[in-house]
Amino acid sequence: MSNATASTIRWEQGDDGVVTLVLDDPGQSANTMNAAFIASLDAVADRLEAEQGSIRGVIVTSAKKTFFAGGDLKDMVTLGPDQAQQAFETNLRIKRGLRRIETLGKPVVAAINGAALGGGFEIALACHHRVALDTPASRIGFPEVTLGLLPGSGGVVRSVRLLGVADALLKVLLQGTRYAPRRALEAGLVHEVVDTPEEMLARARAFIDAHPESRQPWDEKGYRIPGGTPADPKFAVNLPAFPANLRKQLNGAPYPAPRNILAAAVEGSQVDFETAQTIEARYFTELVVGQTAKNMIQAFFFDLQAVNSGANRPQGIEPRTVRKVAVLGAGMMGAGIAYACAKAGIEVVLKDVSDEAAAKGKAYAEGLLAKAVAKGRTSEARRDALLGLITPTADPRDLAGCDAVIEAVFEDPALKHKVFQEIESIVEPDALLCSNTSTLPITMLAEGVQRAGDFIGLHFFSPVDKMPLVEIIKGERTGEEALARAFDLVRQISKTPIVVSDSRGFFTSRVIGHFINEGVAMVGEGIDPASVEQAAAQAGYPAKVLSLMDELTLTLPRRIREETRRATLEAGGEWRPHPADEVIDRMVDEFGRPGRSGGAGFYEYDAATGKRLGLWPGLREHFGTTPDNSIPFEDMKERMLFREALDTVRLLEEGVLTSVADANIGSILGIGFPGWTGGVLQYINGYEGGVAGFVARARELEAAYGERFAPSPLLLEKAERGERFTDERAVS
Ligand code: NAI
Repeated sequence: MSNATASTIRWEQGDDGVVTLVLDDPGQSANTMNAAFIASLDAVADRLEAEQGSIRGVIVTSAKKTFFAGGDLKDMVTLGPDQAQQAFETNLRIKRGLRRIETLGKPVVAAINGAALGGGFEIALACHHRVALDTPASRIGFPEVTLGLLPGSGGVVRSVRLLGVADALLKVLLQGTRYAPRRALEAGLVHEVVDTPEEMLARARAFIDAHPESRQPWDEKGYRIPGGTPADPKFAVNLPAFPANLRKQLNGAPYPAPRNILAAAVEGSQVDFETAQTIEARYFTELVVGQTAKNMIQAFFFDLQAVNSGANRPQGIEPRTVRKVAVLGAGMMGAGIAYACAKAGIEVVLKDVSDEAAAKGKAYAEGLLAKAVAKGRTSEARRDALLGLITPTADPRDLAGCDAVIEAVFEDPALKHKVFQEIESIVEPDALLCSNTSTLPITMLAEGVQRAGDFIGLHFFSPVDKMPLVEIIKGERTGEEALARAFDLVRQISKTPIVVSDSRGFFTSRVIGHFINEGVAMVGEGIDPASVEQAAAQAGYPAKVLSLMDELTLTLPRRIREETRRATLEAGGEWRPHPADEVIDRMVDEFGRPGRSGGAGFYEYDAATGKRLGLWPGLREHFGTTPDNSIPFEDMKERMLFREALDTVRLLEEGVLTSVADANIGSILGIGFPGWTGGVLQYINGYEGGVAGFVARARELEAAYGERFAPSPLLLEKAERGERFTDERAVS
């Protein structure tokens, strides 16, 4: 036995001939498919084969909280295209190791003691029987697609053989669904679910006793893939619909993983197991050495972890839990915030101007919970418990005992000052004071409270129950303690906090404004609105740009623009108009098209025909027509992406943002910056030619479309030094 075996996969053998392989990477909190594991896997397979005669069966389990975490992402992000061959061979080696254990001729059982995602589920699928322990944190599935990858250790090959082509694609491969153990059982991913570790091991042994010569279904004679394969004349699934649906879903956005998953599943279903493994390895390698997987791993794994674990939370301040929160204003946002807090077990007093208005806010939670109960996602008991935590009221005295306040009344500074005055002496004397304002300066709002040090912005996104991000805004007088407490509160309700300093539009509203303005400016250049929408979709934006503008109403950016212009000029700054300004002004003043709420905007909203993006009368005359292709489609996409990225760099220069991870995560989760980029600053890092390549392209756009595309000093400095945007190299 090699040392590697001893170090990452522990061999435990009793007198009964059952070998337990305990996954236990020393010094690591979780097991991954790192080099040591790969070596151990080979060594274990060698020993199992050598000692076959004395072995009755094998149990695979783990000594960690999770069963197995998956691929070694730290390693994966460093693989470049020139390492493709090496990555391919390593992948085949892992596949071979698992296959040798699977075909040993002895029963092999996965005792899944915790989360088995990605590589963990692949190990479990290579076992003949899967017993999962039901723990609250346990999840089973293939999240690879959300990291721009595919399950490359036999996951595609085996899930297709277990479930059939269509179910494998829809249930486990294309959506990245993480199943709780009992749901995994319903979906056919595991065979048994148990409640205690003892029961788990007992069930594993029982399987071994009952199946002395166990084999995988796909290694039985005459096995056929459930539902058939596309090569069968009677294949039941309408296969051509898959690529078509996928194309429709992605809408031209550059996500290579779903395409490769589909190809690996379909091609692999028509050949023998070994050939299918090689096909899977090829498609996996293509993804793992590419840029998109790097971007997505950076954002959805490393950055998200850094942000949620408090890399940006002030150090040395004891964590605190909120017990009772006052939510002021039971409108759209207040109702959503109250629900989110109650869901986390926090007692909520939801206050509005009248009992009716407050009750209406609570009714929102009732509606959401009724749906959840109907869909079986929650129980009636849990619904009642949750609703019992929300007390609607119009009486400020009911706020006694609240240790945090979240204000969400109308966007009016005088009103906001008034409501804080009304409650400040009633809530706990050290209660955290938060405002959900979307546009008003936090420093200015803090002037209306006695304890400005405890006052902070908590900017939620709508709809609150779906949107995972909260932007925390530090005012000039906000204390470190308040920042830490706000951070803890956001984590307590399981949302992701980013931290910014007070500034007009904060980070998210300011940056999304550039996306919208750029789309609107293109209409002014005579580009067909449908092409503008298509460019946004193909760039990977989840929202179409003109549709978003219509929803917000065109008068809103106009008001914000005027306020910003006034403030900029008053402060002695220089004001540069944007080409979108004129389009917006004319849409509102000349054509009477202020957006959806006004009955018409860039779209028509006709009760009979529904929402339509037509060439409404006058559009061509007003804005002219760009001759076909005179503005390259690539430019249209990049103009939107670049404007957002360029201004984010300025926000770093201005000190509004202090963390690259916050910028990346905030842009994706808050304002729909395309996920394939890894976020707004990772987009610059990952651009062809790196930061220098991005700068060169910005210069081209500047020459063609105006000075708003000029790279700023920090960007030029980074390009010159060959640096990337990362948090290790502190951004001042
Ligand atoms: P809303 O108009 O739906 O709700 C405001 C509520 O405040 C109403 O129910 C109103 O009766 C209540 N209210 C007014 N005076 C009050 C008082 N003296 N005491 C208690 N309640 C009072 O507005 P919405 O959309 O919920 O916005 C609230 C705040 O959240 C605003 O500051 C807004 O800028 C901000 N915000 C809004 C977002 C959105 O997407 N709508 C996103 C993020 C922030």
